Amino acid sequence: MSVTKTVSFIGGGKIAEILISNMTAKAVVDPSGLTVSNPGKARLDDLEKRFGINKASCNRDAVEKGDYVFVCVRSEVASTVAEELGDMDFSGKTVVSISAGIPMKLYRDKLKNVSVVRVMPNPPSKIGYGAIAISFGEEVGEKARKDIMEIFSSMGKCFVLPEEKINILTSVTCPAPVFAFCSAIIQSSVLLGIDHATSEDLVFHTIRGCLKEWENNPGQMSKLLTETSTPGGISVQQLFSLDKGTFNGVVKQTYVDGWAKSKDFGDRILKSLEK
Ligand SMILES: NC(=O)c1ccc[n+]([C@@H]2O[C@H](COP(=O)([O-])OP(=O)(O)OC[C@H]3O[C@@H](n4cnc5c(N)ncnc54)[C@H](OP(=O)(O)O)[C@@H]3O)[C@@H](O)[C@H]2O)c1
Repeated sequence: MSVTKTVSFIGGGKIAEILISNMTAKAVVDPSGLTVSNPGKARLDDLEKRFGINKASCNRDAVEKGDYVFVCVRSEVASTVAEELGDMDFSGKTVVSISAGIPMKLYRDKLKNVSVVRVMPNPPSKIGYGAIAISFGEEVGEKARKDIMEIFSSMGKCFVLPEEKINILTSVTCPAPVFAFCSAIIQSSVLLGIDHATSEDLVFHTIRGCLKEWENNPGQMSKLLTETSTPGGISVQQLFSLDKGTFNGVVKQTYVDGWAKSKDFGDRILKSLEK
């Protein structure tokens, strides 16, 4: 495969690995075009061995080698990285910010001549079933938009939206509350007397069946709920119990809290940029 784009990663942790493994497996970027910088050198050796990526000597070296610079450090570290790269010229390069909650303004203010894209791929992106939020800065050109869409479409369904909405998708696409709900159903089955292994299998097949029904009836959630709720029956009784336990309120609060946490990272950075 010819190298039509080069991608560098600042931070070679979990999300960088998810992105690298997809890009190489789906052949959207040749490994010879991938470069990673990371403080832990053993981690770099490991990524080189498994994916054939190039090791950068430092973050600045990684920037020099990539048309696309994916910033994959934890949110608390993003400002330090932006400061460190402040005197470099980013003309012709695009920063792809992956760190949760970090506003594009951080990179626009700190880096010279930069184009910025903010992306939030959720963990199932690893297996090609991601729900991926993408926000393009106005300055991002057509080729970069096409390249970014090609890279992330290989990891799942992309949702392009304005930056002010991205914290919402960051919360809504988190798998943890979904797994917690599945786990609660498993625990209920165990409570009623079914063994653990059978309970997990039972719940997996129940949820898989529900998802398949939903896939076959897109946009029809109300219809699906009505169809599965026989008047005076067991499901209606269960829905009544969920109402009594303020299920809807708890779920909504969960996602509002996730959104607020993500927004908080950004608000703190925006405040520091005002100083
Ligand atoms: N994990 C996910 O599925 C996922 C999905 C979407 C978005 N995100 C976001 O992506 C960000 C990173 O998450 P993660 O799960 O990948 O965290 P992680 O596994 O802790 O990876 C962060 C990496 O950054 C490195 N690092 C630390 N300081 C650095 C510096 N100054 N320059 C370059 N690299 C540095 C760390 O190296 P050392 O370990 O050697 O210090 C580590 O390898 C977070 O903001 C997270 O919210 C994660």
